[in-house]
Amino acid sequence: MSVLAIENFGISFGGLRAVDGVGFEAAGGEVTSIIGPNGAGKTTLFNLISGIYPADTGRATIDGTDVTGLPPHRLAERGMARTFQNLQVFPQMTAEDNVMAGRHLKERPNFLADLLGLPSSRRETDKSREASRAALKRVGLGDRAGRLASELSYGQLKRLEIARALVMDCRILLLDEPAAGCNAVETREIDDLVQEIAAEGAAVVLIEHDMRMVMRISSHIVVLDQGRKIAEGRPEDIRENPRVIEAYLGAHGAAEARAAHAS
Ligand SMILES: Nc1ncnc2c1ncn2[C@@H]1O[C@H](COP(=O)(O)OP(=O)(O)O)[C@@H](O)[C@H]1O
Ligand SMILES: [Mg+2]
Repeated sequence: MSVLAIENFGISFGGLRAVDGVGFEAAGGEVTSIIGPNGAGKTTLFNLISGIYPADTGRATIDGTDVTGLPPHRLAERGMARTFQNLQVFPQMTAEDNVMAGRHLKERPNFLADLLGLPSSRRETDKSREASRAALKRVGLGDRAGRLASELSYGQLKRLEIARALVMDCRILLLDEPAAGCNAVETREIDDLVQEIAAEGAAVVLIEHDMRMVMRISSHIVVLDQGRKIAEGRPEDIRENPRVIEAYLGAHGAAEARAAHAS
């Protein structure tokens, strides 16, 4: 059963059609991957899905309810969370405070209660702190809660970002290259974590360059090239798809690959 359904999404920047009529569905309990060469429109598609840019065509639904045009915080209320391709952490804040910053989207802080230090506000903060610690533990950073983000390794920071998305009790998780820049061990850890999050029921949508990771953990793959969807299917279908090979290697490279394969 698909949790998130995107139909015919599009957006232009000047004369460039960065995303052009793209649709797909993401089901709970599965990893749906978006792949494609650099500049294919993957991050822009995420910006449309998460409400950062308004799509100029198309429609989005969550559990069958139309959510087209809703801003990010309204989508967050409906269970959508995302991470960014470039790390967005506050280096001089602790890991825990970084995760709590994610909670602010979800909470509706009562500023007057905060100001007066009323018990209701303190309770909210305690709850938020508890949830943040649980999320850090969930991504394997339980013992780093009090450390400054600047003291964490790159792989740990990538997991911190995932914790910040998890603390929002998300049902739809958009991950933009969660393992980019990570070494093989860190990539494997993130890979396992992403699979676990999906296994717990979330609809995970993943943008990823590491093809081995994509093939290993995806239920479903959507391939973009120059803003358009050029293929879609199970990993085994995508791996052999000539259009996909051509998009990655170029027509020349694809011909060479075929020749090498034949010889
Ligand atoms: N805010 C923007 N303004 C202008 N052009 C943009 C903007 N965001 C993305 N683009 C362009 O849209 C295309 C797709 O970019 P992007 O979605 O980042 O690709 P990908 O994530 O697949 O590498 C690129 O040509 C990029 O330069
Ligand atoms: Mg990108």
